Amino acid sequence: MPLLLNRNDVQTVLQMNECIDAHEKAFTEMANGTAVLPLRTNISPPDGLSLYMPAYLQEMNALACKVVTVFKNNPAEHGLPVVIGTVLLQDASTGQVTCIMDGGYLTAVRTGAVSGLATRYLAREDEGQVVSIYGAGVQATMQLWAVCEVRNISRAMVCDVVPEAAYSFANEMSDRLGIPVEVQDQEDALLEADIICAATTSPEPIFDGSRVKEGTHINGIGSHSPGAREMDSEIVRRSLLIADSREACLNEAGDIMIPISDGVIGEDHIHAELAEIVAGQKEGRTIPEQITLFKSNGLAIQDAATAKIVYERALEQGIGTEIDL
Ligand SMILES: NC(=O)c1ccc[n+]([C@@H]2O[C@H](COP(=O)([O-])OP(=O)(O)OC[C@H]3O[C@@H](n4cnc5c(N)ncnc54)[C@H](O)[C@@H]3O)[C@@H](O)[C@H]2O)c1
Repeated sequence: MPLLLNRNDVQTVLQMNECIDAHEKAFTEMANGTAVLPLRTNISPPDGLSLYMPAYLQEMNALACKVVTVFKNNPAEHGLPVVIGTVLLQDASTGQVTCIMDGGYLTAVRTGAVSGLATRYLAREDEGQVVSIYGAGVQATMQLWAVCEVRNISRAMVCDVVPEAAYSFANEMSDRLGIPVEVQDQEDALLEADIICAATTSPEPIFDGSRVKEGTHINGIGSHSPGAREMDSEIVRRSLLIADSREACLNEAGDIMIPISDGVIGEDHIHAELAEIVAGQKEGRTIPEQITLFKSNGLAIQDAATAKIVYERALEQGIGTEIDL
């Protein structure tokens, strides 16, 4: 019988290190041609937006579809969150639904996990690196957790336009990860960082790209609409640019589309997709001084791979509620 997993269930079984490893397999499948990743389908009812993100990973035997809705009036009018995510997992050999799970926490962990994977393949490997996190929201916590899983991190800095959010992030994450996490201003957070994660809702560049030090690795996960960007053109120009998907970067990501339309870079500035790096089809960082920039827009294969491990762990641990459809 299908299993129903609520947010608590997903949170109980989903671990970042395992999610990063699942992403490694999923991106290898993408490079090898065994991943099916159709375009996202959007429907706009009068009050909101509903997004359908299907994917199939042949080797992982993961067939799933995430539905994400964005209804801005939900909190005021219905006491519901603006964004609601749900994942449907199917048996790839019969089509039968095996699991329905909450997609909110899963999305945050998988967005951290893809940055963890990019960091594993692109960041320098020195011990005791310093991480700067821009934004102190839900995604930001997952970014720091993921980076700490793949590199030896001595301390972290966080900056947010809302100082209270930054202080609360610093306290929580320092307790959780056992490293010092300090609140910093934009400039200091930039100058000391070996690894930067940009996880804000800002539509405008959040730092001066000419001041990023050589050798830095950057994960950019916010702003995936054509008119919004967290990165200025200068940091994109200076970086070895890796996309989660070329197509998504060229059609959805202001971070990349704006420097292209301004003539600062061409489309060929996208050096590779992460999948090509993971599968060894293209080289990533070649020298310690290089700046590497990973631009994430979020791919449905991430949800499918993550949903599959959540389901397997839930079965092993006897978590969830069986339902009769
Ligand atoms: N790439 C992906 O797959 C993916 C997935 C989920 C969410 N996202 C994106 O990640 C971003 C963060 O999402 P969230 O859920 O954590 O949002 P959130 O609202 O919980 O947190 C965002 C934080 O950014 C801060 N902020 C805004 N402008 C800033 C600036 N200029 N400098 C520093 N901080 C600033 C806000 O004050 C807020 O605390 C959003 O843009 C979201 O669309 C991307």
